[in-house]
Amino acid sequence: MRIKETSEIINSIPGIEDKDYLELGVAGGGTFTKVRSVRKTGVDWEVQWTFMMSTDEFFDGPGKNMLFDVIYIDACHDYPQVRKDYNNAIRQLRFPMGLIFIHDMVPPNLGHTVQKHCSDSFRLLAELMDAKQQLLVQRGNMGLTVVFDPQPVPDEPNFYQKSVTYQMFMAMSRPEVNDEELMKALAERGTDGEV
Ligand SMILES: C[S@@+](CC[C@H](N)C(=O)[O-])C[C@H]1O[C@@H](n2cnc3c(N)ncnc32)[C@H](O)[C@@H]1O
Repeated sequence: MRIKETSEIINSIPGIEDKDYLELGVAGGGTFTKVRSVRKTGVDWEVQWTFMMSTDEFFDGPGKNMLFDVIYIDACHDYPQVRKDYNNAIRQLRFPMGLIFIHDMVPPNLGHTVQKHCSDSFRLLAELMDAKQQLLVQRGNMGLTVVFDPQPVPDEPNFYQKSVTYQMFMAMSRPEVNDEELMKALAERGTDGEV
């Protein structure tokens, strides 16, 4: 069966049309153009969508004064940078119901851990799981991860970068769900109302 694309998963959020959506790393717009939010912001340092700049420049500049309901992190996949994007994204997320999605968290094989693919963003997933953050991982689609009630991770470089290998990560048990389960969880929770 065909695995649902990220845009289909995001579009299953109830009332997505009326949510403020931010995508970090838009490239050709494969996801961005399909997400049905009316108010969308796209940041990419190589392609002009809304802001052509690095994610760091965005969060230090125009992003500082913006708030979002749904943030999709899919720019640099190196652990230190994706971790920084995650912490910065949390600051601009509408609480308590904002959602963060992160792509490329589960490389299907070691070959995909090279920088131009998923790199080592899997280390952030290991860290978030250890911190007992509330999250679900889509089976397939490179481990698209949704974090409900995201909490910042400590700013200091840590244990995960030095110690967690791809093999160790793949041996960890992950909260993986299929497309229907993920969409059901998003539908039940949405981004309005009580957690
Ligand atoms: C994997 S692609 C994005 C794919 C897109 N989200 C989609 O779903 O079709 C990654 C993009 O992130 C951009 N990028 C990588 N690191 C970045 C950074 N630090 N700041 C801004 N853009 C970055 C690259 O230019 C590239 O276009």
